[in-house]
Amino acid sequence: MSRIRSVELAPIYDSRGRLTVEGTVELDSGASGRAGAPSGASTGSHEAVAFPPGGVPEALATFRARLRPALVGIELPEFGTLDAALHEADPTADLHEIGGNTATALSVAAALALGAESGRPLWRVLARPGVDGARFPAIVGNCLNGGRHAIGGPDIQEFIAYAEERRPEDAIRAAVRVHQLLGEELHRRFPKAALGRGDEGGWVAAVGNVEALELLRDACDRARDELHLAVHPGLDFAASEFFRDGRYRYRDQTLDAEGQAGFVAHLVDRYGIRYVEDPFDQEAYESFAALNTAIGDRVLLVGDDIYCSRVARLRPGIERNASNAVLIKVNQVGTLTDTLATVDLARDHGLATVASHRSGEVPDAWLAHVALGIGARGLKSGVLGGERVAKLNELLRLGRATSFE
Ligand code: PGA
Ligand code: ZN
Repeated sequence: MSRIRSVELAPIYDSRGRLTVEGTVELDSGASGRAGAPSGASTGSHEAVAFPPGGVPEALATFRARLRPALVGIELPEFGTLDAALHEADPTADLHEIGGNTATALSVAAALALGAESGRPLWRVLARPGVDGARFPAIVGNCLNGGRHAIGGPDIQEFIAYAEERRPEDAIRAAVRVHQLLGEELHRRFPKAALGRGDEGGWVAAVGNVEALELLRDACDRARDELHLAVHPGLDFAASEFFRDGRYRYRDQTLDAEGQAGFVAHLVDRYGIRYVEDPFDQEAYESFAALNTAIGDRVLLVGDDIYCSRVARLRPGIERNASNAVLIKVNQVGTLTDTLATVDLARDHGLATVASHRSGEVPDAWLAHVALGIGARGLKSGVLGGERVAKLNELLRLGRATSFE
């Protein structure tokens, strides 16, 4: 039986230069796992709180005082045992006493340790019934950043290359090519302007929403023609960020819920969009449901802030048929056990899952294993930047071990 010999939590930096935490779990056998937790910027209001009120220093102090004594020496037949101990130490729904990021870092570290001990990759430790790793996720690759992830970009948060290819090498190649072509066109269009990248590695440019989408569509068209690979435009509106007093407030237009639904549906048809995330405020289940009825047959309609990867938030969405997919971010809900409960609920009701990074990431690769293990329809982990590429490269490695015939 595996027993926890030691457990540590340490501060590390994320890709925005902010402190987060990294957990290490070592078993009596000597097998160990280490995992860092990412942080969001456009966080949903029903998410687990990343850190206690005192930030990372309080997370570390709480870990030393309450978690380490409770965890060292316990038997660990599965990672769920550690997850249960975390919830026992902090019974709050948003984990504000120990911090959601502490929970994520320790939960993933424990699963990695168990995998190391039994010679299994993490995705096999997580694998759900009926998921054999044969289905690889599409790549949901952020190519142009706006909203809270960029200074001076469009209101819509993410302009995405959605590459639905079975082989990771093909899907990644397509998304990378879209990113390159988009950058080249931006440089051609604004030869004197400096061109930078935002928090998730997408380009940042002083363009409007529709102009950015035109550029994205053209880049997808060219990449598709050139590579003969399936890649189409996608958007993450992160609409809660510009929803105030019942209206969607863009810089150049203000829309009520119906107007927003019409705008989204128009963009979908006009620009051949296949992936839409958070087109409405995080409480707007009814708006989601109406849009899902209208466009759910031709796009992956994904709920992020509305569900916060939580069973209690997803259930009302399923009752209303609010979307056909749910974004999965482990640290929105805390532990892997909580995450898998949401994944199971989604699968039982025919909803697709998309395993996602956060805007503030660490250069870990475990997200690729989560995507494969849960049988996700998509892996959303950006295109460029070391902390994004780490996940894509891991997916490439996993893909190499698989025959696609
Ligand atoms: P976040 O954004 O990590 O800043 O929350 C990512 C997303 O909205 O998908
Ligand atoms: Zn989102």
